[in-house]
Amino acid sequence: MRLILLGPPGAGKGTQAKRLEESRGLVQLSTGDMLRAAVASGSPLGQQAKRVMEAGELMPDEIIIDMIAERIGQPDCRNGFVLDGFPRTTRQAAALDEMLGRKRAALDAVIELTVDEDALIERISGRFSCAKCGAGYHEKYKRPKVDGVCDVCGSTEFSRRKDDNAETVAARLEAYRGQTAPILPYYQERSLLRRVDGMADMNEVTRQIEAALAAL
Ligand code: AP5
Repeated sequence: MRLILLGPPGAGKGTQAKRLEESRGLVQLSTGDMLRAAVASGSPLGQQAKRVMEAGELMPDEIIIDMIAERIGQPDCRNGFVLDGFPRTTRQAAALDEMLGRKRAALDAVIELTVDEDALIERISGRFSCAKCGAGYHEKYKRPKVDGVCDVCGSTEFSRRKDDNAETVAARLEAYRGQTAPILPYYQERSLLRRVDGMADMNEVTRQIEAALAAL
């Protein structure tokens, strides 16, 4: 199965993509995670990504398209994947169609997580992750079982994303409204778009996604 999760920053794309990876064996392809790995490596791409991400802007299409084309071509993606954070522009959406067309493959569904923008600030400002294994948490909605200790690896060190501050989040939302939301009609016209209430609690969002996939 090949899926796209769409929605503004903090809508829950990463949270739900991880669950689809666990429940259906789909590979999570997060362009944000790929770029953060490049930043951590200190490569020239990473230095560019650091500047762009901290400004809340989008990376150039060509770079992101090449990154995804290379990743989708790897053997682990043959059994299906869930795109988290890609496509984000009409050009990226068209490039994805070309990539899949060359492989005689098609998208199964595009799931839009609909959310109330006011809630996104709370979601994003409460987010943190394990500095060692990357497991994601939230101060209110997903606390570790033992305070200060990662449920997955037991580490006691946590970190926050540099782009999770009010000013950058406002720019990221602007980029979503201006450049990403316009691709929704493209998928709606092709009957691929399914809307899920991203404001529901995490388990209910998962249930709604599974129901939408079961109905395909
Ligand atoms: P990226 O990493 O993709 O960030 P984003 O799209 O802004 O999305 P987030 O990761 O912030 O949110 P999410 O929807 O995954 O929510 P999450 O599940 O974490 O991109 C970062 C940057 O990279 C971009 O700004 C851009 O510069 C660049 N970039 C990336 N892709 C690009 C592309 N294709 N083209 C160009 N540039 C690109 O949830 C958020 C929090 O809420 C968590 O703490 C979670 O626990 C909690 N939560 C989740 N669901 C719920 C729920 N239902 N109820 C309550 N809490 C919830």
